Amino acid sequence: MAQKSYPNVIIPQHGRGFFGIGIYAAKVSHNIGTLWRSADVMGADFMFIIGKRYSTMKTDTLKSWKHIPLFEYESFEQFRSSLPKDARLVGIELDERSVPLMGYRHPERAVYLLGAEDYGLPQSVLECCDDVVQLPGRFSLNVSVAGSIVLYDRILKIAERVQQ
Ligand SMILES: C[S@@+](CC[C@H](N)C(=O)[O-])C[C@H]1O[C@@H](n2cnc3c(N)ncnc32)[C@H](O)[C@@H]1O
Repeated sequence: MAQKSYPNVIIPQHGRGFFGIGIYAAKVSHNIGTLWRSADVMGADFMFIIGKRYSTMKTDTLKSWKHIPLFEYESFEQFRSSLPKDARLVGIELDERSVPLMGYRHPERAVYLLGAEDYGLPQSVLECCDDVVQLPGRFSLNVSVAGSIVLYDRILKIAERVQQ
């Protein structure tokens, strides 16, 4: 696909640290592709999948896995033991312990974890998260939409911090 160039694009500011995003037991390949595309565009450093249940990622028309690393883990335990040094694991879930994203201060080094479309993040996984954040709304959003909003919230708040 030919890349159109816009003179006034906003390049996401990174600030210090790094961040990655991924899905636990993702089921729908379209969601994965859409999230990868957002992660790539919003400047994520890496992406990951825990437990393979999908085949192709047709919605990732940018082929983001060619541009930023995509890690694939067989289990949550394998993923957890591979977390980068001093990174906080941030669960994204509607849960009793989750705090509103609006007031959340994103860690410099963050790994954002979303849940499966059909059953979300299991309690055993939520218990291992350093923080759990929720988006507004009584019902759940599509997983790739939820992840994209969290990424936007991060770059917005980091841009504010960088300007201070
Ligand atoms: C479709 S939802 C899972 C719904 C599942 N039926 C459940 O009740 O857990 C898929 C994922 O999107 C994310 N998500 C969707 N809406 C959210 C919200 N309001 N706050 C935080 N995460 C959300 C979570 O990571 C969730 O595991």
